[in-house]
Amino acid sequence: MVTKRRAGMSDAENEAHREGAPPKEAQLLAACHAGDCARARELVEQGAEIFVTDETGRTALHFAAASGSAETVRFVLEAGIPWNALDVGNYTAGDYAEAGDHSEAYDELVQAGVRAEMVLRMLNKEPATGAAANEDYLSQPVEYSGDKLVDAEKNGVMMSWEAPLMELHAQTICPAPGGAVLNVGFGMGIIDTALQGQQPGKHVIVEAHPDVYQHMKDEGWDSKPNVHIVFGRWQDKLDEIRALGPYDGIFFDTFGEFYKDLADFHQAVFAPVDGAVPLLRRPGGIYSFFNGLGGDHKLFHDVYCDIVSADLRGLGVDTQFARVASDVVMDEETWKGVKRPYWMIKNYNLPTCTWAPADDDRS
Ligand SMILES: C[S@@+](CC[C@H](N)C(=O)[O-])C[C@H]1O[C@@H](n2cnc3c(N)ncnc32)[C@H](O)[C@@H]1O
Repeated sequence: MVTKRRAGMSDAENEAHREGAPPKEAQLLAACHAGDCARARELVEQGAEIFVTDETGRTALHFAAASGSAETVRFVLEAGIPWNALDVGNYTAGDYAEAGDHSEAYDELVQAGVRAEMVLRMLNKEPATGAAANEDYLSQPVEYSGDKLVDAEKNGVMMSWEAPLMELHAQTICPAPGGAVLNVGFGMGIIDTALQGQQPGKHVIVEAHPDVYQHMKDEGWDSKPNVHIVFGRWQDKLDEIRALGPYDGIFFDTFGEFYKDLADFHQAVFAPVDGAVPLLRRPGGIYSFFNGLGGDHKLFHDVYCDIVSADLRGLGVDTQFARVASDVVMDEETWKGVKRPYWMIKNYNLPTCTWAPADDDRS
């Protein structure tokens, strides 16, 4: 899983892989690989099966993406191959487009992903599916071991390789001393330590796990003069969090929660449904969150970035992603002692969310 083979294909390799496929389907994959949309369409009209893969699980979409032809990618998507199909090497079609530097083909895939996820969301309007996972996590012990914090199943809750990112998040939400900041999720206290360095006037930390809360007290966080700890799930503590606000800077980074929880938090930060005041000060407040969305595949991640900024836009928020190049090598060593790597992407998209100008005017 960690050491992936590179997404790419040589002609010779492809010929070999296509040998086993039935003639029409082999021709279809070849047409896709050549970016010959007209020929691919013709073959499908003549009855070629689009849902064919080669022996390494590559679909017509992987071949079309490798060709760089956005038109062929669009055709294959319309013919029914899902945007998020994986080959046996765990590669998306996006990986093939990226390997060939085909940005137009890549964008087609991202847009298809965004459309599909939006439709799915409309169909699945059900209550927080994440609650059970989060409650399971909170009821079991966690373990600190120097460079990481893991849950009972050795899932990485927080790891020290994220420290440079936390430093940037702290500078983003607290660019000057004296303001009021809110951080949801203490973990290893990396961002809270960085925030203390920025000298906020008030520093509120929300943490729900009893072991983490104990760790905070052991480290003396409860006696720092400008720090207020709110112990409990943020969902259950909104009144208390609100009473300590509004905040000039807010950061969100929890564990065992789902996109729905993040979206609910955004609602509380920017547009509470119950008519309460937003947690973020208006105007001028800055919000950011740990952007690990879809972090094990670049294509999935890019789709989520588009979705989250569209959702935030709907709340009157402008989101800018700063691309942070990471020099952390993501290999077996990085993830030693952790069940599953949760981040496999080269660049980190650090979100800065502010009130969109039209909303600023309303203040
Ligand atoms: C990824 S860690 C945060 C790491 C932190 N940003 C740092 O710099 O070390 C996530 C933290 O959120 C806490 N948490 C999980 N669910 C929560 C919830 N619903 N409300 C508040 N805290 C929660 C976890 O116990 C954990 O300490």
